[in-house]
Amino acid sequence: MSRAGRKRIAVLISGRGSNMGAIIAACMDPDFPGEVKLVIANRPDAAGLETARRYGIPAHAIDQKAYDSREAHERAVLDVLEAAQPDVVCLAGYMRLLTDDFVRRFEGRMINIHPSLLPLFPGLDTHARALSAGMRIHGCTVHYVTERMDEGPIIAQAAIAVEPGDTAEKLAERLLRAEHRLYPHALKMVLDGEVRMVNGQATYRRRTPLRLEDDGEAPLPAPQILLSPDARRNG
Ligand code: GRF
Repeated sequence: MSRAGRKRIAVLISGRGSNMGAIIAACMDPDFPGEVKLVIANRPDAAGLETARRYGIPAHAIDQKAYDSREAHERAVLDVLEAAQPDVVCLAGYMRLLTDDFVRRFEGRMINIHPSLLPLFPGLDTHARALSAGMRIHGCTVHYVTERMDEGPIIAQAAIAVEPGDTAEKLAERLLRAEHRLYPHALKMVLDGEVRMVNGQATYRRRTPLRLEDDGEAPLPAPQILLSPDARRNG
């Protein structure tokens, strides 16, 4: 899968890792400008670790419970992360607050997906909060990570309609499909240099629109596509 000129991506997860899966799937397109070199989870039971491994991607559990402090855990994460020399770090359901030092180290190179139309509903329980606020649309945001949680400059957003009878679960499920389209799209913009963070603002060279209605979600391609021709011959 390694191709010259493709940027190096690291993904931090805490759980099922479906957004990570969408990024891995996007990287299987040879024209995508990056490839996932590393996945780190702060919990050993994160299901996404197994998914990443099936795709031949090094996946490390760095259990936060094994460290005395946030700083000590972050140092361990940083050691593994920096060894992989990522151009971009993607937070994909990474449920641990990062210290300012960590964030500054990856300034302009670390992005996150949040399940609301920021600046509305930062934090948790976004779907229930959108419903109880009577929102008619809901959405997701990919943004640069800054010291202030869920407040970094917005890179791209996608919106979906709130339907009559929606529950937080139904809304979350529909929105997740939009997240899986938005995250690779926004990541590509970052990797291609279409957007950069300049003086705390997202600055665009070009803004490629995302049309959610274009098609449905493509399933994650089978992992064997990632195997080398030799490995495939050997069965
Ligand atoms: C997603 O809804 C994402 O927006 C939020 O956490 C969830 C992670 O889901 N930050 P997954 O682990 O990518 O499936």
